[in-house]
Amino acid sequence: MSVTASAPGKVILFGEHAVVYGEPAIAGAIDRRIYVSVERRSDGEVRISSSDEIEDGYPYVKRAAELTFDYLGERCGLDIKVESEFPPASGLGSSAAVSVSTVLAISTLLGREVERKDVARLGHMVEKKVQGAASITDSSVTTFGGVLFIKPKLEVVEAIDAGNIPLVVGYTGKTGSTKELVEGVRTLREADPEIVDSIIHSIGRIAVRAKGVLERGGDIGGLMNINHGLLESLGVGTEELSRYVYAARKAGASGAKITGAGGGGCMVAYAPENQRAVAKAIEDEGGLPFIVSIEKEGARIETG
Ligand code: MEV
Repeated sequence: MSVTASAPGKVILFGEHAVVYGEPAIAGAIDRRIYVSVERRSDGEVRISSSDEIEDGYPYVKRAAELTFDYLGERCGLDIKVESEFPPASGLGSSAAVSVSTVLAISTLLGREVERKDVARLGHMVEKKVQGAASITDSSVTTFGGVLFIKPKLEVVEAIDAGNIPLVVGYTGKTGSTKELVEGVRTLREADPEIVDSIIHSIGRIAVRAKGVLERGGDIGGLMNINHGLLESLGVGTEELSRYVYAARKAGASGAKITGAGGGGCMVAYAPENQRAVAKAIEDEGGLPFIVSIEKEGARIETG
């Protein structure tokens, strides 16, 4: 018997990096998924394969399998197959999605039901183990779906009833190392805590303000633009990302910013009236655009 689980990618709308220091963030699941299929092997080994080029995700899959076996107190040999509808290591949450899908697929194969909050917790543990530091943002969004307000200090998340948010993602085709980018911000903060802490705090205030705007169905573009400037000041921007951000705004997006760790990866634009024109503008700058919708459903079993 084979079991397939899937989990969505994500965009961080507000608060990346600052969330590592306890500030709130807002992230949404997107309508592109990672699929993990598992089947028993009789020789006790765990083998991972993929039809896409997503070897970057293998350490997460391996660690997720180990943690799931430990959590359940049971282990077995497995063939694990991974497929993705979005580029890995691009800032769209592939690590969390692959970790959470692996936990869900293995526990289901072994006939064990794991509560959602524990699936998210195990996914977060995997990310921390593999990359050294990680907030609960990505693992929560990919597990629960929808748009979430993340309160890292309390380790809780709150669903935001925001309806669909018209977004365009622009991928640079380059991967940034989340670990190195998070370390870079830490170094900057250690060098000048007074100034960097005030930037981090301002990013958190923007997330709080944006929550209210989203709940009223208002325009979050202006707050995204300020958040982008602050991320630039933390040193996680790149020339390419900024080019796409400016091109998106020029094509009519009401706001655009880096999304995720930066240093390559992706930007996201809020484009209520002209997603196609914004996608074209990003493409003309050399980026790979995706028009994305918010995905309400988080991790799920596809077949059993
Ligand atoms: C990465 O998607 C977001 C960061 O804030 C790191 C984290 O929250 O773990 C950069």
